[in-house]
Amino acid sequence: MSVDWSKIMKPYPGRRITLPNGDEMVVTSMTKDEIEEVADALVKNVTYHQDLFDLVSSEIITELYLWRENRPMWGCPPETHFCLVGRVEGKVVGVTNGVLRDPKIGCSLHTNTLIRGLQIGAYLWPCKLEHYFDVLGVDVVEASAETPIGSRKLFKTYGFTEHPDKVSHFGTMLQTMTKEQWDRIKAGKLVGELLG
Ligand SMILES: CC(C)(COP(=O)(O)OP(=O)(O)OC[C@H]1O[C@@H](n2cnc3c(N)ncnc32)[C@H](O)[C@@H]1OP(=O)(O)O)[C@@H](O)C(=O)NCCC(=O)NCCS
Repeated sequence: MSVDWSKIMKPYPGRRITLPNGDEMVVTSMTKDEIEEVADALVKNVTYHQDLFDLVSSEIITELYLWRENRPMWGCPPETHFCLVGRVEGKVVGVTNGVLRDPKIGCSLHTNTLIRGLQIGAYLWPCKLEHYFDVLGVDVVEASAETPIGSRKLFKTYGFTEHPDKVSHFGTMLQTMTKEQWDRIKAGKLVGELLG
């Protein structure tokens, strides 16, 4: 199937979220000219072994570089890659990225935070789902918890459908969310205000 991705991919409008410590986090889509800055910010997690921060941050950095070089990732076209970046006063505090398998199927990649205990990852995750369903217009998102903390904080309370007989692109159990399920839960998950 030949797809003109330039007609499908759109930037996230942006969301402003107040963190529990009162800081304001602004979440926007990064552009390719921010790759080095975001990868450099994530490098500090590459040697942080707790909760597999090392594995997940390394994978995101690799994906950012694959995107830069226009190479497919996990079998998905590089043109479909997006990365939402949370910043506080301009400084990167967390990222969440994804690709599309086809125009109606999202394939979620990773979420990683650079400061712990502020729910940054928990706030970024619904922004990514909002981007998939409400901005890009997919019908379903394929996802997979790569870590126990990811499973607890990002999956358990969202009503994903578990597929114990299938593995995802990461090799862990495939989970899917439909637009219908997203529409049921989003009012209780999205916080802050949409920009633009
Ligand atoms: C999963 C993830 C995105 C969630 O981010 P988050 O919502 O900002 O949550 P934190 O990382 O701050 O984790 C906080 C929890 O971890 C625990 N924790 C561990 N170390 C902590 C620390 N130094 N400070 C605060 N909490 C810590 C606490 O129990 C806390 O639980 P609570 O939120 O229920 O109170 C983030 O933990 C992460 O990047 N993990 C590594 C990569 C990963 O697993 N990605 C998701 C794959 S599916």
